[in-house]
Amino acid sequence: MVQLRDLPQPKGLPVLGHVVAISRTNVYEALEGWAPSQGPLFTIDALGRRILVVHDGDIARQVIRARPTKFARYRVMRDVIEELGGKGVFTAEGDAWRRQRRLVMAGFNSRALLASFDRVSEITERFREHLAGQEGRAVDVVGELMRYTIDVTGAVALGRDFDTIRRGPDVLRRHLQVLFPAIARRMSIPLPYWRYGVRLPIDRKAESSVQAVSAIISDLIREARTRLESADDGPRNLIEALLLARDDDDPTVMLSDDEVFSNVLTILLAGEDTTANTSAWMLHFASRIPRVFERLRAEAEEAFDGPVLPSHEAARKLPYTAAVAYEVGRHRPVGAIIFLEAIEDTELQTERGSVFVPANTPVFVMIRAIMNDPRNFGRPHEFLPERWLDDERPGGLAHSPKLDFSFGGGPRICPGRPLALLETAMVASMVTKGFDLEPANREVHERVGFTLGPDDLRLRFHRRG
Ligand code: HEM
Repeated sequence: MVQLRDLPQPKGLPVLGHVVAISRTNVYEALEGWAPSQGPLFTIDALGRRILVVHDGDIARQVIRARPTKFARYRVMRDVIEELGGKGVFTAEGDAWRRQRRLVMAGFNSRALLASFDRVSEITERFREHLAGQEGRAVDVVGELMRYTIDVTGAVALGRDFDTIRRGPDVLRRHLQVLFPAIARRMSIPLPYWRYGVRLPIDRKAESSVQAVSAIISDLIREARTRLESADDGPRNLIEALLLARDDDDPTVMLSDDEVFSNVLTILLAGEDTTANTSAWMLHFASRIPRVFERLRAEAEEAFDGPVLPSHEAARKLPYTAAVAYEVGRHRPVGAIIFLEAIEDTELQTERGSVFVPANTPVFVMIRAIMNDPRNFGRPHEFLPERWLDDERPGGLAHSPKLDFSFGGGPRICPGRPLALLETAMVASMVTKGFDLEPANREVHERVGFTLGPDDLRLRFHRRG
């Protein structure tokens, strides 16, 4: 059986291993730079710790699907997120994850949540008016979309209308905005000094934001509980659905108040940047590739009257728009790597035989590199939404949809996928139907944080005459 030490490894430094090379750029660029010369599985070292890197679709599937039994989220990431309050289904493991996932999914699948999806149309209309008011200005697209996604998540998850689109960021959003960079920063620091009583101003700021967010969510939970005690019309939003969620097999199994709290925070964090960045890339590609823009517009015009998709059901009439979202997910996923670790000694099957993975080995699954490998998706560097439409895919083009990991995969696949796809369809159809787009900056690079997205993407929105 192959041992980790037998696998290829890029050249690194004694003791420090590959830490210096990674810190020169970032973990994504460094690993994607090494991968083509290292093969499907390779290792890197970080301060004496050996990390297994997966750069092969079939091996990635084995790892991603063998959760929660054999692989867990990477402990460094898990600890940092939990310290900053996000101790929900994203970081839970084992039986705790199984329980929370079942109950959170019951909340996500509840009729209340599905009904609240129609609120997304109202918020999209508000967003349209807001963009129309910025005629011709170079708009900060990601910033605007973040306001949109927080308004949607607020309405759907909390039953609250933050209206940050018109009013600007409210207290909750201001504090949430502190948390992502804090998580990304703490994950990149080899020595977690903050656990040894040392606090820099940046740590105090992050911790006071955690407290502020906690106070707001706790109030919302209290309100939801009070309402549910005096009404019997069922849950009206995700908080209420989570408070009422029961296990199908054992109705005494429910989420504790702490778990409701952590999952609400998790959902707020998980739903904002991710969806905003995906929608932003969609608008970016639409603004640069006329055939994509024209087709999005034609599909929206055909599918519905009025400026905004009227209901979540109507989104089914937008298959090309969905294909544009999938293509962004393949080409520009908001997470380029899924960071995991082995829970127990385990083996991975490869074409060259089994590879032994000792317990606690960090395992980094390079989902973006896999989705941009020509063996899995032909002409990977072309933005080609048609590849996702069965009757339009160019003949002979490699296409492995089972390796679409943009929302993760296996038992832990993202539960927010339907909501996220609805938001992206609402935005893309509203924008292409109502506006012409003009790029306001020549080149757009990637911004690397806890999630990846376009850096300083600016577009001018011109109302159609
Ligand atoms: C385009 C937008 C989104 C993208 C690309 C995305 C992507 C992902 C990915 C890659 C994972 C990790 C999956 C895995 O480990 O296999 C994940 C997990 C998760 N996402 Fe999303 N997500 C998006 C939007 C959302 C939204 C809108 C919500 C909630 C409203 C959400 C809630 C979650 C939660 C709770 C998890 C943890 C699931 C678990 O560990 O069991 N996400 N997402």
